[in-house]
Amino acid sequence: MLASFTPPSTIENGLAPVAGCVVVDDTRLALERRRTGLSLWESGHLAEAAEALSAAAEFAPDDAGILRDLGSVLWATGRHEEALQPLARALEIDPRHLQGWLTLASVAHAAGRKLSAEHAFLAALDLAPDCVDAVTGLAFLYFEAKRYAEAAKQFEAAVAPGSASPHLWACLGQTRQLLGEFAGARAAFEAAARAAPQEASFVQKHARARFIETAISAPVDAAIEAYREAAGNAADDIEAVCRDAFQCLAGFGHVAGAARLAEALLARAPDDPIIAYHLDALTGVQRERAPDAYLAACFDKYAAKFERHLVETLGYDIPAQCNALLLQTGRRFENILDLGCGTGLAAPHLAALGGALTGVDISAGMLERARARRRYHRLFQAEATAHLSSHEETHDLIVALDVLIYFGDLATVFDLVSSRLAPGGIFAFSYEFGSGRDYSFLTTGRFAHDPDYIERLSRGRFDYLADVVTTVRLEANAPLEGRLVLLQRV
Ligand SMILES: C[S@@+](CC[C@H](N)C(=O)[O-])C[C@H]1O[C@@H](n2cnc3c(N)ncnc32)[C@H](O)[C@@H]1O
Repeated sequence: MLASFTPPSTIENGLAPVAGCVVVDDTRLALERRRTGLSLWESGHLAEAAEALSAAAEFAPDDAGILRDLGSVLWATGRHEEALQPLARALEIDPRHLQGWLTLASVAHAAGRKLSAEHAFLAALDLAPDCVDAVTGLAFLYFEAKRYAEAAKQFEAAVAPGSASPHLWACLGQTRQLLGEFAGARAAFEAAARAAPQEASFVQKHARARFIETAISAPVDAAIEAYREAAGNAADDIEAVCRDAFQCLAGFGHVAGAARLAEALLARAPDDPIIAYHLDALTGVQRERAPDAYLAACFDKYAAKFERHLVETLGYDIPAQCNALLLQTGRRFENILDLGCGTGLAAPHLAALGGALTGVDISAGMLERARARRRYHRLFQAEATAHLSSHEETHDLIVALDVLIYFGDLATVFDLVSSRLAPGGIFAFSYEFGSGRDYSFLTTGRFAHDPDYIERLSRGRFDYLADVVTTVRLEANAPLEGRLVLLQRV
């Protein structure tokens, strides 16, 4: 700002300026800097443009237009955090500026400030309820945050005018599919495929959605026919279609449809241990634990996408939660055993807690990824109870995260763990919540356990250090309740 400022009106009124002071018009200077800034921006000199616009904003700190320009150019240079302040200030001055809210929303989103972005999109919608940019921006924001019901509402609003792009229809289809609304998903994919029949991915998605919708209540042959009719030349391998649909239906609890698909798949591949086991789970055949052949085949197959799926899609963060509980004990551990270590998601946490870290897993595919982390001192490919029986070594920490869900009866596991833990050693594990029975074999193929059962198994040989109710992961996109427990060997 200038040291001395005399408003033009004073001069016009014939009053003499203070002797010795230069009379300068801040507004004119602001405009000049703004013009320079915009032309620098236009010619691609973003950093210099930001400097000029910043100077303009100093001359006219309450000029919303200049502040918006400054925020926008800072955004364009990737300085998202710095861009937020002038954009927000511009909206304090001129809260009815629709584009201002949209820009603030985009910048806040890019800066990772999801709540501010949501607030800005909602403010834009208050001003213009039909604003397509705000509706779609909000839809993608909710989708990213896995708030699928809200995302679906916004995508529905975005396609409502009828002129929506096939991509928006496909996004609506995807969102409804994630919500398990299979008829709605099919309708949305159908609209996408109709709008862009040359786009094979839309045609395939529509055909697969028809398969799923049909398979819920009709024989598998009818689903295959519906699929082929919709897919035409874009048809995929039908077995892959059946497998994906099976996972979808089983995941959303369409037990009868999933069982029919499992039977059809088993007829094609009678030795498939994965499908055979799931068919038992779906049709109520009782099991005491998941068989080794199933575990090895299932996790070998799953290994490549395990982390992305479990962590990103299913929101699994039990290793971090467990680490927080272990840190609260204030202890270091010399000899740690990670039972069912999988790809080693817990390894970075466990390795930081102490000395030697050993991992055991039945799946070679999972172990290969655990090995690549280079955090384990030793890795064994073995069934967990077989390993505990044959290795007499004692540990001061044994963890089993997301592993007891593959055992029904836990008596052997508890006996063996307590015999391999040094006095004072800790057993840390998670399990899925069940009630009524000691353990229940679920249609998902996993086991849920009653906390009373865990308490009975612990009595006399373990003390509870922690017993935390938590979300173990998402199931059909809803939080699944479980427990994270720390027991101390007496
Ligand atoms: C859902 S993953 C969890 C992996 C890891 N604990 C984590 O938290 O990321 C379950 C792992 O346990 C292994 N597993 C399940 N039952 C097992 C058993 N009885 N013996 C050895 N490994 C087992 C599977 O192979 C798989 O790698």
